[in-house]
Amino acid sequence: MRRVNKDERTRVALTLNGRAVSGDAESRMLLADFLRHVLGATGVHVGCEHGVCGCCTVLIDGTAVRGCLTLAVQAEGRTVTTVESLASPDGKLNALQLAFQQHHALQCGFCTPGILMSFTDYLASNPHPTEDEIREVLSGHLCRCTGYAGIVAAVLAASGGAAKPEGRSRT
Ligand code: FES
Ligand code: FES
Repeated sequence: MRRVNKDERTRVALTLNGRAVSGDAESRMLLADFLRHVLGATGVHVGCEHGVCGCCTVLIDGTAVRGCLTLAVQAEGRTVTTVESLASPDGKLNALQLAFQQHHALQCGFCTPGILMSFTDYLASNPHPTEDEIREVLSGHLCRCTGYAGIVAAVLAASGGAAKPEGRSRT
């Protein structure tokens, strides 16, 4: 039986934000590290590295996944979408990004790419979520700055919804 050398590199080819790209990855390399350090998609952030904080969230074939719980080699042949894809090529923010800006849904911004990608996936299948549904999705992300209320307001605004009356809003 062939011994697997964990340092051996494999060529991984994928579509990243609409472009065919490829790079070499060790068999144990995480997708988040591959995207950042090999392919230069530094909008992908890495926090806890064990699936808790959500800041490494990207889309594979349109579905949100943790970049720290996925191996780079698992992206072979797949379509990967990161936060870099959201604004138009001339730098115009999309509706969700604009809502985050307008509702002060970020401070340091470290958690923001992952949250934007989770909601990009979620809003594609549920374009008009309730506040509780938004909070359910947000429960998969940690933000140490905003207190979450601004993020909920931003997603509601981007999806045409309205926040619960004053006093019922939770941080
Ligand atoms: S870095 Fe992936 S979930 Fe925290
Ligand atoms: S804006 Fe700083 S961690 Fe969320």
